[in-house]
Amino acid sequence: MTRSPANTAVAVLMGGWSAEREVSLSSGTACAGALKRAGFRVTPVDVQRDTVVALLQQLKPDVAFNALHGKWGEDGCCAAILETLGIPYTHSGVLASSLAMHKEKSKAIFRAAGLPVAESLLVPLEDVAERHPMALPYVVKPVAEGSSVGVHIVLENANGPVRAVLDERAIFGSHAMVERFVPGKELTCAVVGDRPLGVIDIVSKSSSWYDYKAKYAPGGSQHILPAQIPASVYRRCQDYALVAHQALGCRGVSRADFRYDDRPGHEELILLEVNTQPGMTGTSLVPELAAHAGWSYEDLVTWMVNDASVDR
Ligand SMILES: Nc1ncnc2c1ncn2[C@@H]1O[C@H](COP(=O)(O)OP(=O)(O)O)[C@@H](O)[C@H]1O
Ligand SMILES: [Mg+2]
Repeated sequence: MTRSPANTAVAVLMGGWSAEREVSLSSGTACAGALKRAGFRVTPVDVQRDTVVALLQQLKPDVAFNALHGKWGEDGCCAAILETLGIPYTHSGVLASSLAMHKEKSKAIFRAAGLPVAESLLVPLEDVAERHPMALPYVVKPVAEGSSVGVHIVLENANGPVRAVLDERAIFGSHAMVERFVPGKELTCAVVGDRPLGVIDIVSKSSSWYDYKAKYAPGGSQHILPAQIPASVYRRCQDYALVAHQALGCRGVSRADFRYDDRPGHEELILLEVNTQPGMTGTSLVPELAAHAGWSYEDLVTWMVNDASVDR
């Protein structure tokens, strides 16, 4: 539906208490600014666990714009509260959000949809710290985190297994996902509604993979858009992003992360994950992909507000 900006009160939910709180504050501030410029009546809300429900009941916004990342904001819990309160909201609903957040559960759905994913195991943290759970090189990551928090890459020349996971129990929980390392390029593609946008090749400056610093430090990574890859791989990336979005039942905007091994003889495109609350900071990938498709940042957030609903 089309909502008239002057008559639409939008609460921008940001911050929260996940490991990605700071990123969300920057996504939320950018979204709130753009929504104001587009003429909406905007209330920024720094979400706190003990006040969020009462605050939303009091504000009664026409739309809740979800700019949260990580636990609670991205895993379906926030969507469940908005469903309960009957407040139309942006992005995916409860089920798609919780499935996408759980890297093992979403993989089962991706496999069933015919999408290529990397082999992985769920391994107790103690075992990850003690011995290599699979042939090197491999990646150790939390089953349900984002922003590369807790991701460890174990390359062929590693001295031993990742002992540090034992100090990161708060992030990992009892088990870690151990996944085959896929060398090559880091690609990402966003989906808006039923439409895949372009494909970005992310070249990290300081490290060989897309770690937290590469994601958020100024100049931490270079984005090549459109990605300089064969046209058939570019299209495959867009197809996979859309199929993954639909297989999980995502709504609004999502973004799929890939690895593309372009070594002759090894060529493979692997889907790593779908993000149901992709970053919306000034240097984030989704606004850049939208700009490439001819949408300003204001156009993008306006589309998201118009797309907001309950029963998602
Ligand atoms: N199997 C893998 N092979 C190579 N690199 C990986 C692999 N899994 C993760 N990475 C690296 O770690 C980053 C974060 O992993 P990802 O699965 O996207 O989790 P999240 O972004 O939710 O933290 C990726 O963008 C990539 O750079
Ligand atoms: Mg990712």
